[in-house]
Amino acid sequence: MASVAAERPAITFEDDATENPFRDDVLAGLAQERKAIPARWFYDMRGSQLFEDITRLPEYYPTRAEVAALQEHGAALGEAIGEGRIVVEFGAGSSAKTPLLLDRIAPSAYVPIDISGDFLRESCEGFSRRYPELPVFPIEADFTRPVPIPSELLDHERLGFFPGSTIGNLEPDAAVDLLREMHRTLGSGSLLLIGMDRIKDRETLVSAYDDAAGVTAAFNLNLVHRINRELDGTIPVDAIRHKAVWNPDRARIEMHLEATREIRFQVCGRTFSLRAGESVHTENSHKYDEPGARTLLLAGGWEPLEFMTDAESRFMIVLARAMGDGITP
Ligand code: AVJ
Repeated sequence: MASVAAERPAITFEDDATENPFRDDVLAGLAQERKAIPARWFYDMRGSQLFEDITRLPEYYPTRAEVAALQEHGAALGEAIGEGRIVVEFGAGSSAKTPLLLDRIAPSAYVPIDISGDFLRESCEGFSRRYPELPVFPIEADFTRPVPIPSELLDHERLGFFPGSTIGNLEPDAAVDLLREMHRTLGSGSLLLIGMDRIKDRETLVSAYDDAAGVTAAFNLNLVHRINRELDGTIPVDAIRHKAVWNPDRARIEMHLEATREIRFQVCGRTFSLRAGESVHTENSHKYDEPGARTLLLAGGWEPLEFMTDAESRFMIVLARAMGDGITP
């Protein structure tokens, strides 16, 4: 395998789908009785920048807690994972976290998968500078669908890395589907290291998603600006407010864009309206305790081996092993 990541173009898998999936999702989501837009559309240039800003907020503990957990349990992780695996990261560019793992396990190759080619290229450049000997194979793809890993990469055992509590964006049934997809992508003998945010008191959770400086509000409202800009939208931004609520029945933080008065607006030539107090649901961030995480992982084909938290037990990283798919009793 060659080793100059920056020179290797990202492997791209075209989604057959439609011309403009953002448009399709927004129009379908706004046409629903309970309006909703998938959280993935937050991440345009500005949205990605705002998310970076969120990770540095005093109230937003998950990023720091996950980094702390990776640091505290680095040696144990190195021992449990061993050397020479191919690391497949789902959603690349968690720049600060990945080296904490790679430095412990001397991987034989690094395969970042991300839907944003720009983001991939950027993070790959950083990697080839830090690890000049490490072969890097960026794959531009939506990892919620099957990702065909080039067979030349499958000659070593794999470790999937899925940090950031991104799994929390998915409702449990979709989370299980994704875990099973990862199982199929990585194959038997694989390990998975996954970050999950823990259930905690409402106060801590809500302030992490409704910070005093208003950065999370700007992140949520950026979606309105994006719709107005990219989809010929006429949504009056001054009539929309950010709302973050803890839903204890579903163990999740929900973010909404709520109309402060009745409004009518256009998106791509279609007319929609929101009543005063009506909202568009824009994100779920599911939180887990250990039994819940165990059940979710097992349902997805992964047997948990170790649960590792930061010292304050705010966040957990779980190391799991792919379960076999042979005959069972
Ligand atoms: C990137 C999905 C893990 O749910 O905490 C942060 C996104 N949304 N603040 C999260 C997010 C609002 C974040 N994830």
